[in-house]
Amino acid sequence: MIRVLFVCLGNICRSPMAEAVLRSKVEKAGLANQIEIDSAGTGDWHIGEPPHEGTADILLKQNISTDGIKARQVKEADLLHFQYVVAMDAGNLGELHEMAGINPTTSISRLMDYVSGSEIEDVPDPYFEGNFKEVYEMVDAGCEKLLEHIRKEEGI
Ligand code: 4NP
Repeated sequence: MIRVLFVCLGNICRSPMAEAVLRSKVEKAGLANQIEIDSAGTGDWHIGEPPHEGTADILLKQNISTDGIKARQVKEADLLHFQYVVAMDAGNLGELHEMAGINPTTSISRLMDYVSGSEIEDVPDPYFEGNFKEVYEMVDAGCEKLLEHIRKEEGI
């Protein structure tokens, strides 16, 4: 099983959006039995909460399900369990590198790394800005390219 974990700050806006979007793409590609997807936050404020209504609304419009998604905090064991740990911004990335220490055993990246030619490195935080549509477009493009990367890398 190939395991992918998306990580943001609160685990209610960006990373659950990426989890739902990638899951939808994986299901459409017939790869649901080969790729497992989850998300987590570096912060603990929203543990147990469903996705933010801005994320839920935009996904509903795209017919993408958020059923069963609940916020949790990232933990060290995640860095062993998941082969692809994908941060949304430089802040999350820094925290993950710190958690992984000097000997990371997993691939830790940022979602926009996979979009070649993108001048934007971070998926902006819509929690304060409310720009969920813009964030969705970035997450969708990033997940499309991430899935291409995984398929190539894993030969599936
Ligand atoms: P997220 O957005 O990291 O995309 O889930 C945020 C959600 C909550 C907070 C910050 C960012 N917060 O400060 O509670």
